[in-house]
Amino acid sequence: MSLHMIDNVTIPSDFNLPKRPTLEEKKKDDELFEEALELIKKKNALLIAHYYTSETMQRLCEAAGGAIGDSLEMARIGRDSDKNLILVAGVRFMGETAKILSPNKTVVMPNLKAECSLDMCCTVDDLRKVKAQYPKATVVAYANTSAAVKAESDWIVTSSLAVELGKYLTQKGEPILWVPDRHLGSYIANQSSSDIYCWPGRCIVHDAFEANALEFVKKEHPKALVLVHPEAPANVVEMADYVGSTSQILAYAKNSEAEEFIIGTERNIFYKLQLACPNKTFIEAPVASTKGYCISCANCPWMELNTLQSLIDALNKPEEHSLSVDENIRLQALKPLERMLSFSADLKSGKIVLS
Ligand code: 13P
Ligand code: SF4
Repeated sequence: MSLHMIDNVTIPSDFNLPKRPTLEEKKKDDELFEEALELIKKKNALLIAHYYTSETMQRLCEAAGGAIGDSLEMARIGRDSDKNLILVAGVRFMGETAKILSPNKTVVMPNLKAECSLDMCCTVDDLRKVKAQYPKATVVAYANTSAAVKAESDWIVTSSLAVELGKYLTQKGEPILWVPDRHLGSYIANQSSSDIYCWPGRCIVHDAFEANALEFVKKEHPKALVLVHPEAPANVVEMADYVGSTSQILAYAKNSEAEEFIIGTERNIFYKLQLACPNKTFIEAPVASTKGYCISCANCPWMELNTLQSLIDALNKPEEHSLSVDENIRLQALKPLERMLSFSADLKSGKIVLS
């Protein structure tokens, strides 16, 4: 394998983090539960939430008969639903993906300002410039990108399929231009022997997991298995017993004989982990801090924008919360997204076999 880091693109130094909801706002969310539930039913909306949204949002999703999933499942569920109003509780790229796949449905989000630091690391202008430098490379974009970046890509992939796609393209002899997550890019290169030109973006949540501190936690819990999302730094991923997407981490914990786990991903996943495995113990992997202050504390600030109050606002005023994607961009972005969905189906059915 060879991994070449791209160094002529601009990565924001300050991601302009949003203000987190206050404790009062979070408390108010609990009080809004019944109102939100009634409204979802009345509007006949399908709520699709990511595991990183708050516990209250995930409980609401369960009560409303919605779906909680990783980014790949969210995309599939939105596409396959026969409901005309899709309510996506997550970050912007998740809502955009739903809209790209279902242009005739109304897709709303509680907060359209729910960004993702990875998405912010890759502008479409930078991508066009770098593509011109590596004309022979196949452009593979992580799902955590804008619709415009997807439209410039050959493939879209989520964390649950990234290594498999790396192997598939390597089998076909195709070098990869990977955007935008540096850690996932190096993990794919490592696992699949791919030739990768790797964008230097980062997720501010996962980038902060800290290998030295993890050594200490492992010593304190010698029997615990370490489960990590591949957006974490390579030295943390190297210490993991299992590396996977949010849904894959959940499935691994459920099926494992082990009783204790150290979890290296966003902290709201603990809700589902504990629900699925009530008798198992889950410990947070440690994050780096500066002067005792952690930037994310393993809690995505943009996911936090999905309050129940904002969800109620979205259902009451859908025109102010609707996703729209330019039709030309949508049609271009649809191709690599559909390629990903059929790649996933072909892997499952055995039509594609990887060596
Ligand atoms: P998953 O696809 O594993 O759900 O990850 C999405 C994400 O944003 C991770 O930070
Ligand atoms: Fe983006 Fe990281 Fe938040 Fe996931 S956890 S949505 S990658 S900023």
